[in-house]
Amino acid sequence: MPADHLPPPAGGGDRRPGSARALAADLVNQVLLDGRSLTTALDAVRHGADPRRLADAQDLAYGVMRRLGRLRFYLRRLAGRPLSPAELAGPLLVALYELAERDTPAYAAVNEAVDLVGRRHPRARGFANGVLRGFTRRRAELENAAAGHPEARWNFPAWWIDRLRGLYPDTWQAQLTAMNGHPPMTLRVNRRRLAAEDYGARLTAAGLAWRRSGADALTLVRPVAVADLPGFGDGLVSVQDLGAQLAAPLLDCADGMRVLDACAAPGGKAAHLLEHHDLDLVAIDQDPVRLARVTDTLERLGLSAEVRAADAGDPAAWWDGRPFDRILLDAPCTASGVARRHPDGRWLKRCTDADGLAGQQARMLDAVWPLLRHGGKLLYATCSVFPEENTAQVGAFLARHADAGLDPISLPGAHDGQLLADDDHDGFFYARLVKT
Ligand SMILES: C[S@@+](CC[C@H](N)C(=O)[O-])C[C@H]1O[C@@H](n2cnc3c(N)ncnc32)[C@H](O)[C@@H]1O
Repeated sequence: MPADHLPPPAGGGDRRPGSARALAADLVNQVLLDGRSLTTALDAVRHGADPRRLADAQDLAYGVMRRLGRLRFYLRRLAGRPLSPAELAGPLLVALYELAERDTPAYAAVNEAVDLVGRRHPRARGFANGVLRGFTRRRAELENAAAGHPEARWNFPAWWIDRLRGLYPDTWQAQLTAMNGHPPMTLRVNRRRLAAEDYGARLTAAGLAWRRSGADALTLVRPVAVADLPGFGDGLVSVQDLGAQLAAPLLDCADGMRVLDACAAPGGKAAHLLEHHDLDLVAIDQDPVRLARVTDTLERLGLSAEVRAADAGDPAAWWDGRPFDRILLDAPCTASGVARRHPDGRWLKRCTDADGLAGQQARMLDAVWPLLRHGGKLLYATCSVFPEENTAQVGAFLARHADAGLDPISLPGAHDGQLLADDDHDGFFYARLVKT
């Protein structure tokens, strides 16, 4: 159903004909009130939607999520009481974002937000108007006050800030700053098809500025739509963060090896492995919808693997008994190292999530370890910066498995396999285990 003709969602704003602001307000409410991710909320309205309106709404909704700590601080001060009904949050936060971060003229941002509120909640019209006009009057005072409030200053939940400060006393501020910036757009050149420098020449010819950032990697000076990358459809190149591009070389494969990618979707690391070597690769993932993207990616790049939907934690259901020379376990995690790519995620997570995920990760590690041949290597990876998913997870695994040893890896800029986000890459963790 086209987005313009959807009924108003439960707990959400008004999705009927209207501007990008109305759609953005609805998307924001879906995250804050319904606990839905922005990706899921956007996917539900993508089909048939006016592309321009969708792009503008997406831009606004992502912007609100990036600045939510600060915007909610303003809103609390200006409203002076909890919002009633709660769905006033969407239009008010979008308008505050436009006023505070984009310097949109008040007549545009305020009038439409007030109209939006008034259409669904006529009695809240005056309240909305008062809140937003209040911001334009009290802006300097509010900005000063926000500087002393951690959530408003860093735009992360207080528990996240406290954790980072405790874990990384020297770099927590740099990490939060990096996580509030825009992520770099790094490309992985398909080395089976052409050298990175040669692809760079194609980018230059297309008017796109880049810099060399890794063995197969070029980073664009300014991000572009994937469709604008020369030869993307023909499999010359993929988009993959520089930190994620470390996995393939770290797995230390050789031609002819039998390799398991135990959490393969959407297939970035599996494809990189196959670009490096001729492998007998089994790529599994529990999620069949995400798994379809592995098949598409391999097809686009001219690569092949055995791709199947399976639970890495239950090999009895799918393993044929032939041991693997190498295993990549790129485990589901809090994604705390890639928070800037999904700015809504930080507001949806809870401080206890890492503990719950650590249990799942341990179950998967224990389940795939017996599938590795003696002398074989397993690369454990996460895109998290929380130790219970990383160093502590690996420490506990080594304590449980007498036949496991740590195979040291050298990662520039990393400490104990932990890479923190900066301007060049996201946060990742890698540990290579060898079966002795
Ligand atoms: C970090 S992502 C993997 C990214 C992938 N390696 C890549 O580079 O494109 C983690 C994946 O683990 C999958 N997953 C979660 N639990 C799983 C399980 N029990 N068995 C297999 N896959 C699982 C998720 O569906 C998700 O696709």
